Amino acid sequence: MSGKSESMAEFFDHRAQGYDAHMRHTLGEDFVDYYESVARSFHVTDQPVKVLDLGAGTGLELDALWRRAPQAQVTAIDVSPGMLRRLQMKYSEAGERLTPIEADYLQYPLTPGWDYIVSVMSLHHLLPDLKGAFYRRLWGALKPTGRFIEADYVVSPSEEIRILEALETVEAPLDGTYHIDVPLSLPRQIQLLEQAGFVRVRVMWHRKEAAILVCEKQ
Ligand SMILES: C[S@@+](CC[C@H](N)C(=O)[O-])C[C@H]1O[C@@H](n2cnc3c(N)ncnc32)[C@H](O)[C@@H]1O
Repeated sequence: MSGKSESMAEFFDHRAQGYDAHMRHTLGEDFVDYYESVARSFHVTDQPVKVLDLGAGTGLELDALWRRAPQAQVTAIDVSPGMLRRLQMKYSEAGERLTPIEADYLQYPLTPGWDYIVSVMSLHHLLPDLKGAFYRRLWGALKPTGRFIEADYVVSPSEEIRILEALETVEAPLDGTYHIDVPLSLPRQIQLLEQAGFVRVRVMWHRKEAAILVCEKQ
């Protein structure tokens, strides 16, 4: 977490310009494979499947996703106008396949009926209780055949304890509106997803501090 408390939108607005380069640097040699692997969690299809992307940012996940599912109708929610502007510039050719929405996904009314909900590198800003409650909403918003894909930072169980203890002294609101980093361990992630109702929760990719979890509604 940065020294000064920043709202989530401010934090990412300030970093939008260098964001893609930052991610290339952070993921290093895994960068391409990571986003390709997120896309491999989607079935290959020509159908206009409905995809909700939570915290889409500049849309690093979208190129590979559209190669798997070229007609996918993506609703991209992000609270940072700066990140969304870059997304729209990058994907100006996407036309009706892309609906950017500037909103806090925790507050946004999630209409039901999604084939896929995906979130890449975004939900690690939520404390476990808040995340668990949000997972339950996501479970409810998916179609019965729907799939949730969460790609995010993960840490060891001991590091998770250290992070959660350190947050006890943070003064910023911990309700998801201010930028904090709370990467969880894989066992905790799986437990929260299963408690929310997801089944066949599996880790389909895990290297260093990044992982991809895929789970089904039914
Ligand atoms: C690290 S970026 C990830 C962007 C993209 N998915 C990727 O993998 O490159 C996290 C994004 O989540 C967004 N975000 C964080 N919390 C949010 C919230 N509560 N509602 C909407 N967007 C949020 C941020 O604005 C930021 O663009």
